Amino acid sequence: MNYSINDLISILDLKPHPEGGFFKETYRSKGEIDESSLENGYEGKRNYSTCIYFLLTSENFSAFHRIRQDEIWHFYYGSPINLHIISESGRYINHAIGIDIKKGEVPQFIVPGGSWFAAEVVNQNSHSLIGCTVSPGFSFEDFELKSRDELISLFPDKKEIISRLTHF
Ligand code: GUN
Repeated sequence: MNYSINDLISILDLKPHPEGGFFKETYRSKGEIDESSLENGYEGKRNYSTCIYFLLTSENFSAFHRIRQDEIWHFYYGSPINLHIISESGRYINHAIGIDIKKGEVPQFIVPGGSWFAAEVVNQNSHSLIGCTVSPGFSFEDFELKSRDELISLFPDKKEIISRLTHF
């Protein structure tokens, strides 16, 4: 089984994502949660849950961004992914998302809501297909991308990783 980037984009009907990579929303629950039942910070209602395919290639990376809700990453195919996370309090961790569990890779990983995260494929000339599930469902109103300079001023001791994994 060998799927090129173009195979995956055309068969799964993926489109460019503003954070880098390609995606397609595969599920958006019909049910909705009212603002009064959501945590502070959400404006308006949200679907119960959403899910996407996400394709990342070695040509690009997913730049540091954050969303309000926890995000569940599921590994499906290709190179392992290195996921970099800076918590709101500034604690940095990174984790390999993949299927080689003997090497410490994990096929599922939860990014805590509110943390800043970025991702890149581990192997050169490769790509990775993953899924991302969130609840409450995704809205670009809950999505935040900051510039390199803004993030460095928040987390000056993380300058190196922020500089490498931001687009502007
Ligand atoms: N839908 C569009 N973009 C995203 C994203 O970055 N994460 C999730 N979970 N869903 C999305």
